[in-house]
Formats: sequence, C-alpha cells, structure tokens
Amino acid sequence: MVKTCLMMGASGMAGRWIQWLTEELGDRVEIVGLVEVNEEVLAEQGAKLGLRADQLFTDGMEACATVHADFCGIATPPQFHSALAIAALGAGMPVICEKPIASTLEEAKAIAAKAKETGLPCAIIQNYRYEPNKQEVVRIRDEGRLGRLQHIVGRYACDYREHGSWGKAWRHDMDFGLLFEGSVHHFDMMRFLSGGDCEVFQGFGWNPEWSSFKHFSSGFYLMRMDNGVHAAYEGNSSAAGITSCWHKEYYRLEFEGGTVEIGAGDEVRITRVGQEVEVYQAPALERAGHEYLLQEFVDWLQGGPASATRIEDNLQSFALVIAAMETTEDSLPKRIADYLEG
Ligand SMILES: NC(=O)c1ccc[n+]([C@@H]2O[C@H](COP(=O)([O-])OP(=O)(O)OC[C@H]3O[C@@H](n4cnc5c(N)ncnc54)[C@H](O)[C@@H]3O)[C@@H](O)[C@H]2O)c1
Repeated sequence: MVKTCLMMGASGMAGRWIQWLTEELGDRVEIVGLVEVNEEVLAEQGAKLGLRADQLFTDGMEACATVHADFCGIATPPQFHSALAIAALGAGMPVICEKPIASTLEEAKAIAAKAKETGLPCAIIQNYRYEPNKQEVVRIRDEGRLGRLQHIVGRYACDYREHGSWGKAWRHDMDFGLLFEGSVHHFDMMRFLSGGDCEVFQGFGWNPEWSSFKHFSSGFYLMRMDNGVHAAYEGNSSAAGITSCWHKEYYRLEFEGGTVEIGAGDEVRITRVGQEVEVYQAPALERAGHEYLLQEFVDWLQGGPASATRIEDNLQSFALVIAAMETTEDSLPKRIADYLEG
C-alpha cells in the first residue's frame, strides 16, 4: 500500500528528497502535502508534484494540523527540525529527518521523548553508512577477516575557503558549522566502523586566519569506544591541498592482521606486512545513501525492522557533536554517558 508523506522543505537537500521519493520510491510513497518558506520554490515544486493549493503550506505547524499523512519527511535547516518533528509526531505522523537531529541537545532529546511518548517511528538520515566501501569494511570487521580491530583514523578535508562554497552561506556563518554540518557524519561513521559507542571524547577546534567561516572550520578529535577501539579524526573545511571531501573521506583501520584503507570510490586496500597490497572493489549496493534510508523507513512503517539510525540510537552520534563543542571550548575530556542521561 502506498504511504502518504507530508514533506517539510522543497529545495536544497529537500529537493533531492522529493526526487528520491517520487522517482525511486514512487510506487510506495505519495507526497500529499508540502511545506516551504520560500513561496516561489513552494509553487514550483507544488506544480511539479501536481498538488492543489490546499496541499501547500509556508507554515509547518499549520500543515501538521491540516494534513493527515502516513509520515512526515523533514529536510529543512537544523534549527527548525525540533519544532517540526514534535508537531508531526504530536499529530500522529512518524518522522524521518535529516541530520543533525537538531541544533541543541535539549531539542534533540525533546524529539526522542516525543517519539517515545507517541510510540511512533523516528529515524535520522546517516547516508554515509550506506556506501559500498563502508559496508565492506564492516563486513571485514564482523567476519574477523583480519582479526580484531585496534584503532581507526578518519580524515575529512574540503576546500571551502570561499564563502558560500559549502552549499549555503549559513554553513559558513553559524557557530561550530564543521561539527553540526560536517563532523556529525564522521562521528557517526566512527561508531559504525568501530562497532562501538563512544565512552570518552576529547579534542580541539580552531579557525585559520584565511578561513571563510565565522567560527571554527577545523578540528582534531579523539574517541575511546566502549568496545576498546580508539578513533582519531581530522576535520578541515579550509583545505588547500590534499582534499578528502564528501563521499571521498579517508578512513584507515588498523586490525590485528593488517590495515584497511578506504577513500574515494569503492576501492578497498588491505595491507599486510610482508605481502603485496590487496586492492579490490567493494560489492555494489542495490540501494545506497538516502535512497536506502528512505526505503528502510517505509519498510519500517510497513512492519519491517526499525531503522538502524532511529533517533534513540542516533542520539549517541549527536551527543558527540555536543561533546566536541564543549571540549573545544574547555579542552577537557567528556564522558558521553553524561550527555545521554535524563
Ligand atoms: N545527509 C546529507 O548528506 C546532507 C547534505 C546536505 C544537507 N543536509 C541536511 O539537510 C538539511 C537542509 O540543508 P540544506 O542545505 O538543504 O538547507 P537549505 O537552506 O537549502 O534548506 C532546505 C529547504 O528548506 C526550506 N526551509 C527553510 N526553513 C524552513 C521551514 N521552517 N519550513 C519549511 N521549509 C523551510 C528552505 O527554503 C529550502 O528550500 C540540513 O539539516 C542539512 O544538515 C544533509
């Protein structure tokens, strides 16, 4: 049976959601309401979707009170996620929302509390988990092909030295843009690749004088996971040389029996001391990234298993962003459990 969707946001990432929902999942999803603050964009997308005027809204609250859809998709900037998600859940609609969960830990916890109170599914997008090379690394780990995992080094580096080059100006102007818009993916990836949750987190952030960002564009962060794996992360949105930008982030995993490296493309490189380097393509995925997550969510609504990136789990990744912000400010180590209490 087709699931109806109230969609929050219509251009930028939301425009891509609309494309995936209509083109890739069109036989399972129908958008029956659209919310967008930019009236021109609203009219244009509304016409493309064949929606009537009474299905188009500039106010998410009004839309939640009017449209009774099977679920709500949220792909607006982060500061609006919490109010919109809580209104949708309150109106009886399960929610799938873009990362980061929200702008503050309190807002993120408020969404999780509403999902618990209503008993409705609530999933967060973590599209990078569903790429062939990341899935292959997790298989190598789970199958014990190289024995036990010791530590992971991850590197993200984009050349965003020009203001506005990171998609939207607001990413350059907000506080801790690297962490909320960028590192949240990489911290989640450290959890995914290590197979553990972070216990202790520590690091530094800074803003080079030539940065296009009002706040810190760069940082080094360390994690100790609850399964004994350690992780080190370099984040740099002011990269001028070697870049490891979106979908090309570099991860190196040190196993008992060798080193695994992934970066651009689907190539997996395994180095064992004294042996020739093994290089191969990770097996392709039937659906990857957002497409996978949107399908997984619709499956969940139709009785399938809960999304791996449901909000209860994803709070663990979001807490790392908050811990990163605080350790950047006071240089002290943070216990992640302290952020998740209450
Ligand atoms: N998962 C990924 O790979 C990825 C990539 C880029 C962005 N994102 C996330 O997607 C979200 C949106 O980012 P973006 O770059 O598309 O932002 P954006 O500024 O382009 O906003 C997306 C759309 O939402 C609209 N909008 C803004 N406020 C709204 C409101 N209150 N109600 C309804 N519509 C509203 C905007 O007009 C725009 O059409 C963010 O949470 C961002 O972190 C995720």
